[in-house]
Amino acid sequence: MTEPFDAVDVIIAKRDRRELSSDQIDWVIDAYTRGLVAEEQMSALAMAIVLNGMDRAELAHWTAAMIRTGERMDWSGLTRRTVDKHSTGGVGDKITLPLVPLVASFGLAVPQLSGRGLGHTGGTLDKLESIPGWQANLTVERMVSQLTEVGAVVCAAGPGLAPADRKLYALRDVTGTVQSIPLIASSIMSKKIAAGAASLVLDVKCGSGAFMTDQTQAVALAEAMVQLGTDAGVTVSALVTDMSTPLGRTIGNALEVREAVEVLAGGGPPDVIELTLALAGEMLAAGGLSQADPAAVLASGQAMDTWRAMIRAQGGDPLAALPTARHHEVLRSPESGVVTRLDALAFGVAAWRLGAGRARKEDPVRPGAGIELAVQLGDEVAAGQVLATLWTDTPDRFGRALAALAGDAVVVSPVCLDDAARPVVPSPPGRLPGGLVSGRPIVLRRITAAGLN
Ligand code: URA
Repeated sequence: MTEPFDAVDVIIAKRDRRELSSDQIDWVIDAYTRGLVAEEQMSALAMAIVLNGMDRAELAHWTAAMIRTGERMDWSGLTRRTVDKHSTGGVGDKITLPLVPLVASFGLAVPQLSGRGLGHTGGTLDKLESIPGWQANLTVERMVSQLTEVGAVVCAAGPGLAPADRKLYALRDVTGTVQSIPLIASSIMSKKIAAGAASLVLDVKCGSGAFMTDQTQAVALAEAMVQLGTDAGVTVSALVTDMSTPLGRTIGNALEVREAVEVLAGGGPPDVIELTLALAGEMLAAGGLSQADPAAVLASGQAMDTWRAMIRAQGGDPLAALPTARHHEVLRSPESGVVTRLDALAFGVAAWRLGAGRARKEDPVRPGAGIELAVQLGDEVAAGQVLATLWTDTPDRFGRALAALAGDAVVVSPVCLDDAARPVVPSPPGRLPGGLVSGRPIVLRRITAAGLN
């Protein structure tokens, strides 16, 4: 059978800044998935898209074509309304863990198909796999029964969801073509639309630990994704949130599970609580429950009950001791003052080097490895005070991890407390339950379909 297009013509069209036709897009995605478009041709096309972009119609078509390469989940048999969440990934981002059971406690169904971490950002499945017995792989039948009984599932996405993206993302990873708003937006949204929830809330990270380091780019990515979801009939909103410094006080799989459980028990760091409640509010409103009070349900222990049921349903023991690493080393403050910088990327790389993350998809992670912060932004410290504890099973990793934290990764600015010239730490955005205050603005922007033109 002769093919209707030639891959070289499609590449040249995008190289010369021409709009790709719907037929060209349908063909190139399908032919690439079937192996008829060579990896080097797709990599040239991806680079042309990085450089020249895609307009709204091209992007919508590209995303729809990626979805059509695989299956689409169907939750219409459930009596509960479905709502999903996606984070573009960050350092110490354990929000899915308290958020999913919290939202499910209101009677909504949250089917979360998650991934494993790569590089300095963690993956939700890696975190949950540090719980003894917990299983990431579920059949669709088990997902349906767990959603019916518990309302909350976090499990591995099967290979059938947008297989074109699986292939294309692996290629982009090794060809310098990850950093592109249309390619990131279509990659994420093809999987999320195929995952089938009626509503979706996006947490688009912004800052050194995120794909998008500046707010203008993060807002543009959020807008593109909200537009794609809306065009596909999904109710979508996005929060653009700060990722310039790690979320909470822990980075690393078992350490992050422990902190998430603290939040479910009514404690935990203010920034983690604030973001959990902000995203829960969005998800509940999307599910028709805009008057619901997630802070009250978190405080009541109901979300903890749902968490335990969710973990048990997947073979895990929510009360079992979590793994710990065998060796630790501390990082101390060189001087007295106020902590004005804890760089997210540097801490993510350090935790990764300690064994919390992987360099290649096949690598294992060490569940106990990672970093516990003893301070957060804006805290006063004395010279010699512990700023962070580094954990690993292999002590020869300490050197490279500490090297990632050298330079200006951590800044303690000397101040006199009465001094008007005290360094500016962003002012608290608001009070949280229990009188807690988080030390910086977490939610930077909210993007909804109504706000787009
Ligand atoms: N996550 C994805 O799934 N795709 C991207 O392109 C980037 C992040």
